[in-house]
Amino acid sequence: MKVLVLHGPNLNLLGTREPEIYGSRTLEDINRAISELAGELGVEVRFFQSNHEGEIVDALHDARSWADGIIINPGAFTHYSYALRDAIAAVGLPTVEVHLSNIHAREEFRRRSVIAPVCIGQISGFGAESYLLGLRALVGWLRRS
Ligand code: DQA
Repeated sequence: MKVLVLHGPNLNLLGTREPEIYGSRTLEDINRAISELAGELGVEVRFFQSNHEGEIVDALHDARSWADGIIINPGAFTHYSYALRDAIAAVGLPTVEVHLSNIHAREEFRRRSVIAPVCIGQISGFGAESYLLGLRALVGWLRRS
């Protein structure tokens, strides 16, 4: 089983970016924790981070040829990127949306996700743990289906 883990814009700055909201772990720390869990679950994970919408669309298209599922933190694209939403719908792979912060407990504009309706579920508010919960949820979903 193979899973693509996609990180959207500004997530490369984790560790120093608004640590009171996003915590002090770097993206590398988070990827390491995901890799460890993936090893325990017997899943292969590949990571991709980009600050550019089109590059994320391309990574989603590319996943069609090799991935069984996707974990995505679309960053601010969550709230307005119809291009990412359409790409996830077009690719048709089961996708879990994750967020470090609880987007429903923050500014009004963050409460809406245009991505969530094309995902199998959303996990939000558990810091780096959101990714791990997302991976467990995706793998459970794939193994049941
Ligand atoms: C985020 C929440 C988004 O609103 C924000 O733009 C991000 C990070 C999160 O993981 O909590 O960049 O996706």
